[in-house]
Amino acid sequence: MNELKETMLLAAEEAGKIILQYFNGAFEIRNKDGINNLVTEVDMFSEKVIIDIIRDKYPEHSIISEETGAMMHSSDYQWLIDPIDGTVNFAHSIPICCVSIGLLYQNELILGVVYNPMMNEKFVAERGKGATLNGRPISVSKKSDFRKACLVTGFPYAWPDSYEHPIRVFERFILEGLPIRRLGSAALDLCWVACGRFDGFWEYNLSSWDVAAGYLIVQEAGGNITNFEGARYNVFEKQTLATNGLIHDEMLSIIRHRK
Ligand code: IPD
Ligand code: CA
Ligand code: CA
Repeated sequence: MNELKETMLLAAEEAGKIILQYFNGAFEIRNKDGINNLVTEVDMFSEKVIIDIIRDKYPEHSIISEETGAMMHSSDYQWLIDPIDGTVNFAHSIPICCVSIGLLYQNELILGVVYNPMMNEKFVAERGKGATLNGRPISVSKKSDFRKACLVTGFPYAWPDSYEHPIRVFERFILEGLPIRRLGSAALDLCWVACGRFDGFWEYNLSSWDVAAGYLIVQEAGGNITNFEGARYNVFEKQTLATNGLIHDEMLSIIRHRK
């Protein structure tokens, strides 16, 4: 496990250096599907460095990475990589973005790192061994009074007709009179729940690379993470609710409109 963890941390650090080097500077920006769904050349540089480091050590492992896609092998190990989570922030020189790398073994998350080089904050979790921020153990908040909770969310660029419009769900939370933030990086949203800055996070339509590392970090910090039915969540699902555990039921009931 140590070697896997060292490889993961090295990849995150090297990618973080690239992000810092280009932040606030000049780089190419393209849009993917939709004019505001951006990718920069720095996403590609960051992704290359991460994949090269992992491939060099573990050429037989499977990798799913946002910009390159799936590179599957018949391996028990699968890496899930977001080379910059918060690309829109990065492209606008807003210093809230990160590298996110998660590792599955036989479909179970075993390791995760989320590194925000701008704030020099590195969140790490190892299954069964807790979560840390810059080496110090972290835990979710102890807030049980939902009326005092501070929440964070994000909005998808698209959603299916079968799903309630995300703004309606947002409206219900706002009408509760709660402070709600929108950072623009789902991986950091999860980590900021894990270290107690936020009490809860929900978002619809995230991808496996957005949530893999943050999922384990929340769990190892003592939080709860489910889908919007309250059932066990997996990283390939589209509904993410992560909380300190104490306000989980209240958040679920607002999302499901069962107040
Ligand atoms: C995005 C961020 C954002 C979330 C979007 C994601 P990207 O990832 O995590 O917070 O709302 O759904 O796509 O595109 O910056 O890697
Ligand atoms: Ca992302
Ligand atoms: Ca990304």
